[in-house]
Parts: sequence; C-alpha cells; structure tokens
Amino acid sequence: HRILTLGITGFDSPILNSSIPEARQSLSVIPELLLIIQPDSKILDDVKQIAAKAKEYCDSNPNFNTFNRVVFITEYLNPLSQKLNLFQKEERIPAVERNRPLKATAATLFDENAFDVNGFVASNEYRYSDEKAILGEKLFYDKSLSKDGNRSCASCHNPEKAFTDGLKTNVSLKGRNLNRNTPTLTYASFQNAQFWDMRQLDLEKQSVDVIQNEDEMHGSLAAIHSKVSSDREYIQLFQKAYPKSGKTEAWQIQNAISSYVRSLNSFDSRFDSYMRGNKNSINAEEIQGMNLFMGKAKCATCHFTPLFNGTVPPNFAKTEHEVVGTPEDASGKRLSEDRGRYIFNQLPQLKGAFKTPTLRNVAVTAPYMHNGAFATLEEVVEFYDLGGGTGLGLSVENQTLPTDKLNLTAAEKKALVAFMKTLTDKRYN
Ligand code: HEC
Ligand code: HEC
Repeated sequence: HRILTLGITGFDSPILNSSIPEARQSLSVIPELLLIIQPDSKILDDVKQIAAKAKEYCDSNPNFNTFNRVVFITEYLNPLSQKLNLFQKEERIPAVERNRPLKATAATLFDENAFDVNGFVASNEYRYSDEKAILGEKLFYDKSLSKDGNRSCASCHNPEKAFTDGLKTNVSLKGRNLNRNTPTLTYASFQNAQFWDMRQLDLEKQSVDVIQNEDEMHGSLAAIHSKVSSDREYIQLFQKAYPKSGKTEAWQIQNAISSYVRSLNSFDSRFDSYMRGNKNSINAEEIQGMNLFMGKAKCATCHFTPLFNGTVPPNFAKTEHEVVGTPEDASGKRLSEDRGRYIFNQLPQLKGAFKTPTLRNVAVTAPYMHNGAFATLEEVVEFYDLGGGTGLGLSVENQTLPTDKLNLTAAEKKALVAFMKTLTDKRYN
C-alpha cells in the first residue's frame, strides 16, 4: 500500500524523482520475505511472478513523469495485494483486530468496504450504527435546531451539491458574509481534524461548534436536548439508536449528527469502479489525467489516493495542512488574508496553512478553496501550474507547495480536470 500511495506518487522522494527505482526495490523484497515463512505455496509463487513482472515494468519505465501509474496499479499492485490477502485467508493468518481506518481485511485500497469510519471516532461509545445515522439525518434537516427556527445544517450543506452550497461564502444569521467557503461533508469523516484550519479534532465537537456559533445557527445544545426529549418521534429514534441508554442525553445529539455525516461516503465514483476492474468506466483522457495527477502534476503528494484528502496513508493516522498561497480572488493580485492554522497555533510556518481538502465530488462543490477564490476547476489547475501563490508573484511565507511551474500543456490541464470529474459519487452525477 505504501508503494501505491506514497512511493509512485513521489511523496517519499519528491525532489529526487527516484520514486520508480525505489518502488522496484521494495517490490523485490516482498516475495523473498514471504517465501521464508511458507516455502511451498501456489499463491506465493503467483505473488513472486506478479512482483517480478512489476519489477520488469519499473525497469523498462524508470521515468517519473511518463511512468504509467494507472497500468502499474491495476495490472500489478492491485493483483499483488489481492493475492497476499488470499494467502492470509488460506493460511488463516488472523487480521489484527484494531480500530483502524483501513480495514485489515481489505484486499486492495479500492475495495468498496476498505475503509472503516470507526477508525476515526474518538471513543467507543461514538461508534457508527445505521440507527444513529437515521436519527442524525432527522436532526441534520431539522430547522428547529437553530435559534430562530429558520436554519438547519442542510441550509448550507445541501445534499444536491454533495453537501455544499455553491456560494463563495455563505451569509451569517446577521446577514454578514462568512469568512469561509462551505466544505463538502462527503468523506469528511476520514479526517483527523475538521474545518479549514483543523481547529476541531472530531466531528462530535464540531457539530456543537456549529450549532452554538452565533453566525451559523446560534442554537444551544441544552435547548435542543429539551426539545427532542419531549418529542415522541425523536424519543423513539433515540431509543433505537442508543438502546442501552434509557434516556436521551446531549452527547447523543452530537454523536447522531456525526454518524449521519459518517454515512456520506459511498465510494462508488467512476474512478472507484475503474479501480475495481471495470475498464470501461473511464476514458483515455481521464486515464491520462489520473497519471498526471499521480505523476507530473504531483497532486497526489498532498491529495493522497484513494481518499484524495490530506489524511496520510498507509496508516491514515494524521491529516495534513499545507501552504499553497491561495489568493483573495481569481484575479490573483492579493494573497488571502485568512491566516488559517496560524490563528490557533502561532508558528510562522503555519501562516496561511489550510487542511488539504478531499477532491472526491469536487466537480459538484464549486467554488473552491477556503475562501471560494476560484469558480472553476480550470482556474484551480492554472493556479497550480504557475506554482501556487508564489508563482502568481505574491509574497507567500513558507509555501509548502513547490514554487516551480508544472509546465502542463493545454491538453494536460484539460485531462487533469477530466480526471477530477471521475471522482463524483453516483448520487451526485
Ligand atoms: C451558515 C452555514 C452553515 C451551517 C448552517 C452549517 N455549516 Fe457546517 N460549515 C460551514 C462552513 C462555512 C464551514 C467551514 C468553516 C471553517 O472551516 O472555518 C463548515 C464546516 C463544517 C464541517 C467541517 C468539514 C471539514 O471538512 O472541515 C462539518 C463536519 C460541518 N460543517 C457540519 C455541519 C453540521 C453537522 C451542521 C449542522 C449542525 C452545519 N455544519 C451547519 C457552514 C455551515
Ligand atoms: C502542497 C500540497 C498540495 C498540492 C501539491 C496540491 N494541492 Fe490541492 N489543495 C491543497 C490545499 C492545502 C488546499 C486548500 C487550499 C485553500 O483552501 O486555500 C487545496 C485545494 C485544492 C482544491 C479545492 C478543493 C475544494 O474543495 O475547495 C482543488 C480542486 C485542488 N486542490 C486540486 C489540486 C490539483 C489538481 C493538484 C495538482 C495540480 C493539487 N491540488 C496539488 C494542497 C495541495
């Protein structure tokens, strides 16, 4: 998994471009190690063969920019991972039971059920259940949660737009523009921190933050609690969601809403379908875009495959923030004044650092960036091609995005955008 997510994308060695020879080296070690454990296994012989072919592939394609990652992943790495999984099953090697984001039973990173939202919950009582999500869904759309009864979570997180609002920034209850663009809630549960500046570590705390925020909903958890505790329909839903509890408690409101957010990850985009072996689900231009994304354009060094956010594989234990130098607006004349992470932690390198957002469903979540500076994906790609804020000629302290130009051709830029559009889940297409 490490070879796929970090090795061939250049994350492990972004400067030297030596990723491909390194991936080749890692591959040659796997079968040798396993054959020590189990010298006569048909599956391991297959593993050895696939690994040998993969090595050959690396040998004949050593160039970082032209290496065809799509072929490499689908023809070699996925089958290799599947065989190893089969070996584990046949030998009855138990999967380590641990709360972790990537399930030990997943044969590849692209399995429909490869990821476990419970790998990101803060405590056992917060674990996901469908009953909690059903209760959470009702709360999510319930306007009476807000002080004046005219706003629900869905007022800004509209399910038609993959839970965004299509606005540069939404307006506060007092009619003022909010500072930040509304992010998608799809796949938000696969992050170790919430909000553009990562100020909340878990979804449970995050929902109270919003409910009580006077710009957003200006409600109070206590008021909501007393309301739901006297509503017959809610009481029933709470009983189903928390059968052992016997009464409705305030933390359950937070946990139920968060559980609904945790249910919004369907992993059924055309990209997923392709990775699961359906060769017809994406076309040649989109494949070119995927290769650029994981190669020459270096996008996957921050938007990690397959979640396409900043949660770092293969352990998914940490979500990263980066300084890309986002401007105030698309004219690119001034740097955004939002200091991001720095507001909460005054280290110079955190000035203008924002969480790397997921690109899943990005085709339907315009406008883009923490401030909605860019209206289209084409504008975003142009920004990266120039080298981010520094490339625009702005003075960006500590930009973590490489400042050199990507030198993408017009066709390559188009392919990158086409690829990002394959990341849309079925229900938003
Ligand atoms: C007035 C519009 C508005 C309302 C109402 C609203 N949100 Fe948000 N939401 C936002 C904005 C804007 C942000 C980004 C704020 C930031 O990063 O500083 C956000 C961020 C989030 C995030 C973090 C996602 C991420 O990837 O960082 C979650 C989760 C979330 N909202 C859930 C909810 C829930 C649950 C409710 C209802 C209880 C809700 N929101 C109500 C506008 C809204
Ligand atoms: C150095 C890390 C890094 C690299 C490399 C990178 N990104 Fe990003 N990306 C980010 C961060 C951080 C943000 C949020 C910036 C902000 O809000 O100001 C972001 C935001 C985006 C967004 C907006 C998403 C949204 O929901 O608003 C898109 C689209 C995007 N990146 C695409 C790309 C593409 C395409 C590439 C490759 C050409 C790329 N990124 C390379 C870190 C990176």
